[in-house]
Order: sequence, then structure tokens, then C-alpha cells
Amino acid sequence: MVYDLRSFIQRLEQDGELLRIGRPVRRRYEVAAVMAAVERERKAFLFEQVEGSPYPLVGGLLNKLERFGLALGQDPARFGDAEFDALLEQAKASPLAPVEVAAAPAQAVVHTGADVDLDSLPVPVFFEHDTGPFITAAIGITKHPDTGVYNVGVYRTLVTGRSECVINASSMSDLRQNYAAWEASGQPMPIALAIGCDPAMLTAAACKLPPGVCEYDVGGALQGRPIELVKAVSHDLLVPATAEFIIEGMVDFSRRVENLLGEFAGQYGPENAPVTRVTAITHRQEPYFYSILAGRNPEHNTLGSVAVYGVQRSVEAAIRDAVPEAKRMHVFLEPGLGTLAHVVISIDKQSDDQPQDIIRRAFAGGGHIFPVGMIVKRIIVVDEDIDVADLADVEWAIWNRAATERKFVLIPEVQSWELERAAKAGQKSVRVGIDATMDLEDVDKLIRPVTPGADEVRLEDDVTPPSGKQSAA
Ligand SMILES: Cc1cc2nc3c(=O)[nH]c(=O)nc-3n(C[C@H](O)[C@H](O)[C@H](O)COP(=O)(O)O)c2cc1C
Repeated sequence: MVYDLRSFIQRLEQDGELLRIGRPVRRRYEVAAVMAAVERERKAFLFEQVEGSPYPLVGGLLNKLERFGLALGQDPARFGDAEFDALLEQAKASPLAPVEVAAAPAQAVVHTGADVDLDSLPVPVFFEHDTGPFITAAIGITKHPDTGVYNVGVYRTLVTGRSECVINASSMSDLRQNYAAWEASGQPMPIALAIGCDPAMLTAAACKLPPGVCEYDVGGALQGRPIELVKAVSHDLLVPATAEFIIEGMVDFSRRVENLLGEFAGQYGPENAPVTRVTAITHRQEPYFYSILAGRNPEHNTLGSVAVYGVQRSVEAAIRDAVPEAKRMHVFLEPGLGTLAHVVISIDKQSDDQPQDIIRRAFAGGGHIFPVGMIVKRIIVVDEDIDVADLADVEWAIWNRAATERKFVLIPEVQSWELERAAKAGQKSVRVGIDATMDLEDVDKLIRPVTPGADEVRLEDDVTPPSGKQSAA
């Protein structure tokens, strides 16, 4: 188990998993270009000299699932999506409250007033149309003005000056609701960013939890001991004591900034959020600045899967309610396919009208995170001999079992979500249903060639071992 970022960095370096870049590198595009090359190798990186900053930049630390396993005290070799999902569900079910400490490594050095300088941080510009430099590995900390419940999430933050930044909150985020509640209350809103938290806290922050459940508690449960918090130096929020950097600020609702950034599924996303005026920057001795390569890239996408598991589960539950006759189902929600889901449902088909009816019922399904029609772009109905989790098998069924236009259902003008960039006015977009089942009249004609007994063959029973003469040769 790892309790802070720097011990994880050391561990990866010892294991030969971290590459150092010693030469000076420019913040605008060059850092991102080198990050991308290292991420393709699934290594972590440490830039020793980013132009204009005294701080080293690290990242790529969590760019494959086994690294989460390593950081969270699991067997890395056996840590896949199912294990990660189960670990998160267990942590959500048994939250562990944080503890407050009096002194913290994160406050070893304190900058306030004219000493505050966000430009001293090595914040990269990632893509050519990004509005500016983005902090990408920070967790944002706020409290609800009425309930006092803490909310923590990963929010990309645009640096707009030495002492101001814009912390982006999507329409789905609890931070968006907290912004609205504070603005309505008319009181000044304190906010903090923690950069370089321990991996358990970062993971918990990326989880989509119900409002009222605190990510600090889930982070503690994941780590198996309470997260240590310390009072901020310029307001009263409690912030992670072992983070590398803390940025403290007050939100100024009188100024909002439109901004554009490269998104996780390979397109740009527009954001609009209020400005935060920075009141203090604190950090550890010799701090590491953590940065996640933005866009459709391994670390961003692997950390993002923490939220994806829950969305997949909610889509599947909603469709199972709407389509009780569904046999097996798979929800593909992968950045490689874009921001929207593709669902495959297998059935024991009773009539040729049934698949279209299922498609319409499924798209109309509810769902406690997103309505099905909002997040699912395509629903494909297949026969039971198709492997719903194998997209190649599903594609085979579509292009070998559909020969009439009635097998393709188009549902126009569906309310989509903000990250479907192709959507038209009012965020309306088309949804597609495909009946990839065999028409009943064709069942005998389209049957797949199967060799009886092929599944029972064990090659070791059949292959003749090399003769004594050959093996001695
Ligand atoms: C690398 C990364 C960057 C993210 N950037 C943002 C962002 O800029 N704005 C946002 O609202 N959510 C962003 N998210 C998703 C949120 O962190 C996640 O949905 C979280 O559950 C939101 O928390 P909340 O609903 O408690 O506010 C990002 C996630 C990851 C993994």
C-alpha cells in the first residue's frame, strides 16, 4: 500500500517503470508531445527541467490498471477491471472518515499575497486549440454551504494569471451544484486544489458518488486508514496533508471564462466556469508537480474508468428493467469508441418484430446517472450464439445477418449529453438501433458452421510427443 505520491514515484523508479527526461523542455506542446511518447510505452515520466519552473513534473504514474493494483495493495498481476470495480464497491460500502492533523508536509512552504505565482508551476499546454495551460491532476475540494458536506473531484483547471485560475465543473459534477448553491447564498466560496495526492485519494476523487457521500471517506477506505487532512492557511477548508501542492482560493462569480480543452474521448470539449482568485499556494519541500496527459490517453482514460464502471452498471440495470427478456448484455463505454456507449443485447428471438421493439424500449429506459438515450448511441440486438462482449463477433453478426432496411432503426432528435460534440441545436442527436439477429425464415440458411466435438478437444491428449531420438538430437 502506498500512502503518498512520492513513495509511489520512488517505487516505480526502482522497478524501472519511470523514465527521466533531463533536458530542458518547453511547456507549450513539447512536454505533452514527450508525455505521449512515454505513455505509448506505458511508462511513467519525470521531467527534471520544464522551462521557467523550479519544480519537476511527473505523470503517467497510473497509466495501466496494474499500477492501481500496486498502489492499492493488491496483486498487480491479477488486477483487471473486475477486481478494480469490486475494490471500489467495497470501499464505497465501508467508508472511513478522515482525521485532522495539526501540521502537514503539504504546508512546509507557504506562499501568500504577492508571493503567489501560478506561473511558477510547470503547467503544460497540451493541444493546439486548448485555451491555455491546464492543471490536469488536481483534486478540487469544496463544501456545500448548507450541509457542510465535503465534495472532492478531479477537475481540469485553466491557469489564467499569476493568481487566478478557472476550475471546470461539468454539468454532471457535484462541483457544478456547489458553485450554484454558493452563488445563490451570496457568501464568498472557499475552494482548494490538491496536486500530487496519494493514489487512493486521487482514485476516490475520480469516483462518481451520490451527493452526501464524501470522497475523503472512500479514499480512507481504499487506503485502509483515514486520509490525513489539515486546515488550509488562508481559509477553513480541510485539505490533504500529504499532497505535493495545495492551491487555495475564493471563487469570484462575477467573472466566468469560456474555455476549450482536449477531452478524454478524442475531441475538444467546451467549458464555462467562474474564476478562482488564489489566496495561497503551499507545498512540500522539493515538491513534484503531477500532470496527467489530457485527451484520449492512457492515464486519463484509466483513471476515468473509475467513473465508467458505475455508468455501465446503471445503463445495464435500466435496460434490464425495460427489456426483461434480454439474455446477455454488454455495455461498451470506451474512449476508443467516443464519448457515448454502445450496447449489445442477446435474445432468444420469438418474432421478427421483437428486436425493433426491444431497441425502442431500451432507448427509452431511465437510469440513475444518465437516461439510456442520453448516453447510449447504438443498441445492437443479436442471437444467443453471438458473444456480446466481443465487438468483432457483433460486427460479424451485423454484416452477415441484416439484409433489409427495417433491420436498421434511426431515432432522431434525442437529447444527448454535452460531450457529444456533433449534436445539433438543443444538444439533439440521432440514436441507432441494429437488429443483427437472423430473420426467422433464414435460420437454417444462416446457421454457423460448427464441428461437433470441437470444444472438447485437449491438444495435449492428441499430440504425439517427440520421439526419444528427436529430443536427444
Ligand atoms: C483526468 C480526469 C480529468 C477530469 N476532468 C474533469 C473536469 O474538468 N470537470 C469535471 O467536472 N469532471 C472532470 N472529471 C470527472 C470527475 O472527476 C468525476 O466525474 C468526478 O466523479 C466528479 O466529482 P463530483 O461529481 O463529486 O463533482 C475528470 C476525471 C478525470 C479522471
